[in-house]
Amino acid sequence: MSEPFDAVDVIRTKRDRGVLSDEQVDWVVDAYTRGAVADEQMSALAMAILLNGMQRAEIARWTQAMIATGERLDFGRLSRPTADKHSTGGVGDKITLPLAPLVAACGVAVPQLSGRGLGHTGGTLDKMEAIPGWRADLSNEQMMRQLEDVGAVVCAAGAGLAPADKKLYALRDVTGTVESIPLIASSIMSKKIAEGTGALVLDVKVGSGAFMKDLDDARELAESMVALGKDAGVTTVAVLTNMQTPLGLTAGNALEVRESVEVLAGGGPGDVVELTVTLAREMLAAAGRDDVDPADALKDGRAMDVWRQMVRAQGGDPDAELPTAKETHQVLAQGDGVVTQLDALKVGVAAWRLGAGRARKEDPVQAAAGVEIHAKPGSEIRSGEPVLTLHTDTPERFGRALEALDGAVTIMPAGSRPDLLPLVIDKVR
Ligand code: URA
Repeated sequence: MSEPFDAVDVIRTKRDRGVLSDEQVDWVVDAYTRGAVADEQMSALAMAILLNGMQRAEIARWTQAMIATGERLDFGRLSRPTADKHSTGGVGDKITLPLAPLVAACGVAVPQLSGRGLGHTGGTLDKMEAIPGWRADLSNEQMMRQLEDVGAVVCAAGAGLAPADKKLYALRDVTGTVESIPLIASSIMSKKIAEGTGALVLDVKVGSGAFMKDLDDARELAESMVALGKDAGVTTVAVLTNMQTPLGLTAGNALEVRESVEVLAGGGPGDVVELTVTLAREMLAAAGRDDVDPADALKDGRAMDVWRQMVRAQGGDPDAELPTAKETHQVLAQGDGVVTQLDALKVGVAAWRLGAGRARKEDPVQAAAGVEIHAKPGSEIRSGEPVLTLHTDTPERFGRALEALDGAVTIMPAGSRPDLLPLVIDKVR
């Protein structure tokens, strides 16, 4: 079949800082997905986009072109409105686990199509799979039924949504072209728009443990995604949140499930509770239900009831013992004072090296591996007290995890104050 464009012309246009036409965008995304544009040509184009950027209309067209390569789901027949949350990824970010049942308990259905972790940020499916018996793979019909009956579902995104993104993301991963705001925004939003949610809340993380280390970049990404959502008719809000230090007191799959269940039981760390309730309020408001207060549903056990139904509906046993690691190792404070910094990236890399995450997408993960935090920034500590406990089934991993933690904890004299950004930094509507 003869092609209407030449890939080299499209690459040259972007290389020379030009604007791609709608027809060029539609063609190059489709042709790459069906194999008519080669990987090396798409790598060159992705690099030109990373270096020279895209205009708002180009990003919107690129996103629509990626959606058009696959199927679109439709939640229109459900008896309640839908709202989804997407986080750009961080260390100890287990918020989906308490959030999905909490929002469902307040009358809004939550289709949470999730992924597995890669690198130092964990994946929601890996966390849920720490629950004995729980399975991630559901058909579209099973997902719809669970959304109607229980109100919340966490499951693997099927291969049918935005297949162009799957292929392009794998290519970007090996060509140094992940860190492009237009490509990140279109990648995330193509999947969320194709999924068919009515409302979307984006948790855009900022700080050492996040994709976006810098507040201005995070804000630009948030604004780009909010515009894409609105253009596609999805009520979209972004919350910029702090990922300088890990969220909560655990990073690692089973450890994070345990902490999430504590939150659902009305306890748990203050930052996890605060972010869960903040995002729940935004999701409910975006879905038109700002008349209900999610804090009540967390306190009175309604969210816990939905969690138990949600776990059971996918074969899991909410009462089963969670796996615990065979070996632990404590990291002790080297002096008296106040913890002023606990670096999210270093903790994330340590959890990954202990076995909680994977380097390649086919690697297995250890359910029980990870890092438990005893002293967050702001805590007073005395020399010799534990700051962290490392968990793994394979103790030969402790050495590399400890190397990753070099310089992770800063302790300053008593009376010092940590220089912390607030947990919720800003909102973009
Ligand atoms: N997550 C995605 O889904 N895509 C990106 O490009 C980056 C993060």
